[in-house]
Amino acid sequence: MNSLPARPLKMQFPRTLVWGPNCTEQFIEDLRGQNLRRVLLVTARPLQPLTASITAALQDRGISAAVDDTINQEPTIEMLESSLERSRTMDFEAVIGLGGGSVLDTAKLIAALARSRQKPDEVFGIGKLTGRTIRLVCLPTTSGTGSEVSPNAILVDRDKKKKGVISEFLVPDAAYVDPLLTRTVPPPVTAATGMDALVHCIEAYANRGAHPMTDLYALEGIRLIAGNLKTAVENGQDLQARSALSLGSLYGGLCLGPVNTAAVHALAYPLGGEFHISHGLSNAVLLPYVMDFTLSAAPARYAQIAEALGVRPAATEEETARRGAEAIRQLCAGCRIPLRLSELGLPKTALEKMAESAMTVTRLLKNNLREVTYEDAVSIYRKAW
Ligand SMILES: [Fe+2]
Repeated sequence: MNSLPARPLKMQFPRTLVWGPNCTEQFIEDLRGQNLRRVLLVTARPLQPLTASITAALQDRGISAAVDDTINQEPTIEMLESSLERSRTMDFEAVIGLGGGSVLDTAKLIAALARSRQKPDEVFGIGKLTGRTIRLVCLPTTSGTGSEVSPNAILVDRDKKKKGVISEFLVPDAAYVDPLLTRTVPPPVTAATGMDALVHCIEAYANRGAHPMTDLYALEGIRLIAGNLKTAVENGQDLQARSALSLGSLYGGLCLGPVNTAAVHALAYPLGGEFHISHGLSNAVLLPYVMDFTLSAAPARYAQIAEALGVRPAATEEETARRGAEAIRQLCAGCRIPLRLSELGLPKTALEKMAESAMTVTRLLKNNLREVTYEDAVSIYRKAW
């Protein structure tokens, strides 16, 4: 057994955390039990049928829901400001986030800022939020983000860079993770969001801040996601596969607060901020290249990741680790995820500028088990192109 680290790790969970098929009903019953009368439901327009059934169920129990369904892309600071502006004319006691990562991140920030003097610009970074007075409940409709349990919210700033707001006040009061809500997610979105969740688990396990308390979630999350992603992409109605992804994504989310991600996410941010490539796809494409780059610094860790991915051990840990990166490529191919940045339409001339931008994401780069310099970042992008 590896020796235990001498350092403590702080994990923060929502006070109520429910996972399981149909737990949306539990959410409705719990809200009624809390004597809430008015809620703001933050969501996206394509989720209208689900939104309608939830608002009707709430109405039946005497709870009125105002709906903000404007979060239809990765959120920008301007989108958040518009939602906050509208929310000021509404009367509500709780914010409910119902959607994927973009929706949940926005809902979290609305709950934190709607009755605050702080402006969105003032809260970027770690620990800048001064509090949250509005109850916050999150229901993810994709298996990927982990936002329903994390202290993170990511926004595209005015300079088109993705920036994080990290605060314990963004951990929701309650999260209901219902795999049934993910059954209608289309295959490409299942693939991309599932890969994002897998990257959360891999980057939490291969991380300078890795810790036994999160290793447990990370390794099991890798097993669950790697073993079921292709099935869920091929048959979205497969409840076993959807459940495994949903639980794996929750486990990845639980690692985000205490350990967080590393170079894959840092290098993926410029793809989203500048080129509007989805977060999951950006991460998926870069993952095997960042693994190739980093694994020599921690072959034992990457070999354990490879085994959790389903790879048989080779003669050396480094060889097992390399087979892990290969297994990721096969998984991506099986899920019809492109293996190269050029397939995403990125111009080769943009790689240096992307590397410059990625180097500013120091809060994640510092977690990587091998230091990433600007030259390394350019080289990883070139290999991935
Ligand atoms: Fe992510």
